[in-house]
Amino acid sequence: MRGKATATAPANIALVKYWGAHDLSSGIPLNASISMTLSRCVSTCTVEARTGDAAGGAAREESNEVYVVAPGEHWPAPGEGRAQGELRPAPDAFARRVLDHLERLRRWAGADCSFRVATHNSFPSGAGLASSASGFAALTLATVGALGAEVTAEELSILARRSGSGSAARSVLGGYVELPGGPVPDDVYARQLAEPGHWDLRDVIAIVAAEPKAVSSLEGHARAPSSPYFRERLACLADRLTVVREALARRDFDLLGPAVEEEAVDLHLIAMSSSPPIFYWRPGTLEVLEAVRRLRTEGVKAYFTIDAGPNVHVICPPDAEETVASRLGALGSVREIIRDRVGPGPELIEEHLL
Ligand code: PMV
Repeated sequence: MRGKATATAPANIALVKYWGAHDLSSGIPLNASISMTLSRCVSTCTVEARTGDAAGGAAREESNEVYVVAPGEHWPAPGEGRAQGELRPAPDAFARRVLDHLERLRRWAGADCSFRVATHNSFPSGAGLASSASGFAALTLATVGALGAEVTAEELSILARRSGSGSAARSVLGGYVELPGGPVPDDVYARQLAEPGHWDLRDVIAIVAAEPKAVSSLEGHARAPSSPYFRERLACLADRLTVVREALARRDFDLLGPAVEEEAVDLHLIAMSSSPPIFYWRPGTLEVLEAVRRLRTEGVKAYFTIDAGPNVHVICPPDAEETVASRLGALGSVREIIRDRVGPGPELIEEHLL
């Protein structure tokens, strides 16, 4: 018997970031995080569950197949049709994480099956654009669908988080989302703070390097406590979380922006002072930060944030988007601009990749 399902799930940009794990293997952060779900940066994943031909144990894992749809020159937007490109075996490290998660979900469902999986991202992978968040959220939803199971949003968030990607727990919901952290139980899940329609914020993403980063987020979480400033960061976070929650509730951009920028700088301060240090920034990153500050002196409302990578997300209201995108797009070190915005959560679709 075969069950097949395809899911799309959005990436998200953390406004307050998860950096440092309480339990790395199941994606439980040491601190609470808040994110904005995106709509243009999405992962699509098809999972085919094959029951009846499974031999169990090692043989079952042998018969699993994991593919990525190789990206072309162009990153297709959602709605631009089926992802174009050939299926290629997934890179080893990614395939290992996918296989581990499939096995986890298979046991959770009590199924005896093997899997064929294909995934596609509408944006560069592993470059600090939350491809693990969207990728594991899509994989989780597609696998649950292929196994014929039904889950609530809370259960989906827990299952996605157990992939080891805490940010995937937030990608199962649209709008503005919070994931608790700290010494919390293993059934912690993300909850929605506000629907996408609550506040139309834009995210102009300046790509200065599209290749995968040298140090993964997982490694970054593991090294974070070695920074002498890590405790100070955690101590500041309760106040920053309150500010960001309030700013979102009141749609107060002047309150939100500075908190979001401080938060991004803190994360990179911790990364750069970890042992051994991690430098995600490139010269182009600084060129973009400088341009954002200049835009603000001209009265344009825009604030930056940066996840674990060199690329810069510039959060702005709709009337600033055009100016931000054209100014950043003209910088020498910017290779591409992705114009994104707050968006809805994942969904099952009928257009399969396999
Ligand atoms: O979910 P992970 O393990 O990929 O870690 C996410 C790390 C950041 O993207 C830097 C922050 C966040 O909260 O999304």
